[in-house]
Amino acid sequence: MAPSGVWARTLGLGRWQLAPWASRRRVRPVATLSAARAQCEALVYRKHGDPLDVIQLENFKLSQLGDSDIQIQMLAAPINPSDINMVQGTYPILLDFPAVGGNEGVGQVLEIGSKVTNVKRGDWVIPSDAGLGTWRTEAVGHVNNFIKIPNTIPLQCAATLSINPCTAYRMLYDFESLKPGDSVIQNAANSGVGQAIIQIAKDMRLKTINIIRDRPDKKQLSDCLKEMGADLVITEEELRTPEMKELFKQKVPRPRLALNGVGGKSATEMLRHLEKGGTIVTYGGMAKQPVTIPVSTLIFKDVKIRGFWMTQWKRDHGHGLLQEMISQLCGFIQAGKLKAPMCTEVQFQNYQTALKAANTPFISSKQILIM
Ligand SMILES: NC(=O)c1ccc[n+]([C@@H]2O[C@H](COP(=O)([O-])OP(=O)(O)OC[C@H]3O[C@@H](n4cnc5c(N)ncnc54)[C@H](OP(=O)(O)O)[C@@H]3O)[C@@H](O)[C@H]2O)c1
Repeated sequence: MAPSGVWARTLGLGRWQLAPWASRRRVRPVATLSAARAQCEALVYRKHGDPLDVIQLENFKLSQLGDSDIQIQMLAAPINPSDINMVQGTYPILLDFPAVGGNEGVGQVLEIGSKVTNVKRGDWVIPSDAGLGTWRTEAVGHVNNFIKIPNTIPLQCAATLSINPCTAYRMLYDFESLKPGDSVIQNAANSGVGQAIIQIAKDMRLKTINIIRDRPDKKQLSDCLKEMGADLVITEEELRTPEMKELFKQKVPRPRLALNGVGGKSATEMLRHLEKGGTIVTYGGMAKQPVTIPVSTLIFKDVKIRGFWMTQWKRDHGHGLLQEMISQLCGFIQAGKLKAPMCTEVQFQNYQTALKAANTPFISSKQILIM
């Protein structure tokens, strides 16, 4: 099927463009929902390892619907780097075997337990915490483990809402009190988190300096990120050049906040450009290299070195605040301020293609399994 999403790669051309059909996706009527079943199909693993080696599509038994449970039909679920790390056994959350892959996604309610009053059949819900195992066709769980969202937002936005946009939102609001005109620097700017940062920062009237890795289609990617709201898009190599000083004199103020999803040299270079007393927040380590902090940035700039994990925030702050943030993000989506990440829809049965693509560098496309 054709790749879909708000940002979709035009087949054959390799260009990113706004996909007009994404905002017109119709809500699935309740009448067409299939009946709740006792088992589902799921991407199951029984040992840790390379997802392509250890994951299989299998029939998977569903728990019986309890009074406070809901049964959902999964509609779509992305493949995120942390999902891969979980299957590899290198993530702080590890599930008991047999385990189902995937931590986020959107489902439609098929059945509700007798005591459930806050959701009804046909509603869309997203998991409120990691560990559900979203790469499956159906799931049963306590209603409190889900958050209801409007079923009028684009499917790709709903499927990718609970992790990356939330992470971007929290990092922009919780570490520095930024005011319009301030700037934020980030690496992995084309990642799912990075794209959400660009769009939410734009709403906050902040300037963003966006670092990407050099690539043959750099101009197209840069144009695409600028269309989303990025002010500057530069490569990791350009970040190391003396011209950066001029850029901070003429185009944007030095950033008060640096958001690091990469680590290694990329993080060190961002640190060098931070404003005095600024903060670097590490949320990902895609380069698998430690963050080296130049001594001068500590002594002469007194920068703050922080970290952030969305899962921990959810556990510390509870359902109410999470629900509030999700409602606000849904409002952004409905107002056209927050679009889904550049993505490719892949039919659930073709999960191996999606897993391969999710592990391919420079692809700039979130793989979304469609159930
Ligand atoms: N702490 C939290 O709560 C939290 C929440 C969400 C995500 N994360 C983490 O944030 C990171 C990004 O997640 P995502 O879902 O946004 O990812 P994504 O959409 O899959 O994008 C992956 C990004 O990583 C970059 N990348 C891959 N390998 C790299 C390398 N060796 N060196 C430098 N960059 C590399 C890619 O750049 P290219 O296009 O150049 O390959 C791309 O920008 C992951 O580490 C994820 O686990 C953390």
